[in-house]
Amino acid sequence: MKNFVIAIDGFSSCGKSTVAKALAKNLNYVFIDSGAMYRAVTLYVQQNNIDINDNDAITKALDDIHIDFIPNPEKTQILLNGIDVSEEIRTMEVSEYVSEVSAIKAVRTAMVKQQQALGKKRNIVMDGRDIGTTVFPNADLKIFMTASPQVRAERRFAELSAKGEVLTMEEVKENLSHRDHIDSTRAESPLRQADDAIVLDNSELNQEEQLKFVIDLVKQKIEMPQA
Ligand code: DC
Repeated sequence: MKNFVIAIDGFSSCGKSTVAKALAKNLNYVFIDSGAMYRAVTLYVQQNNIDINDNDAITKALDDIHIDFIPNPEKTQILLNGIDVSEEIRTMEVSEYVSEVSAIKAVRTAMVKQQQALGKKRNIVMDGRDIGTTVFPNADLKIFMTASPQVRAERRFAELSAKGEVLTMEEVKENLSHRDHIDSTRAESPLRQADDAIVLDNSELNQEEQLKFVIDLVKQKIEMPQA
C-alpha cells in the first residue's frame, strides 16, 4: 500500500507543529519538523562563526552538517552531527537568522532532498513552509495554517517566556514579521499556499478543535482519495 503524506505549511508561530505532532500521534505516523532542520543549519553556522552573509561559506559547510531525527513517543529529537540540539535550535538567537540561512539556494536543495528521503516509504506528517508546494507537491493532504498576527505573537511570547528568554512583545512581533517577509518573498520556494491546500485559521480554535478539523480531513481523504 502507498504511504500517506500530510503536508502542513504556514507562517511562523501558527501552531503548525502542535497540530502536526498531535495528528501524527493520533494516526501513528512519523512527525517531521522541517523547520528544525533549517534551525540546525543556522546553529552550525553560528557555532562555527561563519559569516551569515557569506553564502559560499555556508554552502561549503553543508558537507560537514549531518542532521538526524530520532522519533520518540514524547518528543522527536534532532541531532546535529550526533549531538542533541533539540532545545538549542529554539532560542531567539537562532530564530533571528534562520530565515536568512534558509533562503540560500544550496541550503534549500540539501534540506529538501533529505526531507523527500524521509517521506519515501513511511506515513508522515511534515510541517514547514514549502512542503505542499515543493517538497511533496503530490502530498495526499495539504493544510495551510494561519492565525492573526496578535495571536501568533502572544503564543510565541508565552513559549519564549516559559523558557526564560527575556523579550518584549514588540521584539517578538518584530521577529515574526521579519521572518514572514523573508519567508514569503525569497526567490527559492517562498512560503505560499498550494492551490489544493485547505486553510485552517486557528485564531479562535483550541487544540482539540484543530485536531478534530484535520482528522476529519484525513478521514475524508482516506475514504474518498480523489476528493
Ligand atoms: O517552523 P520554524 O519557525 O521552526 O522554521 C524556522 C525557519 O525555517 C523559518 O523562519 C523558515 C524556515 N523554513 C523554511 O524555509 N522552510 C521550511 N520547510 C521550514 C522552515
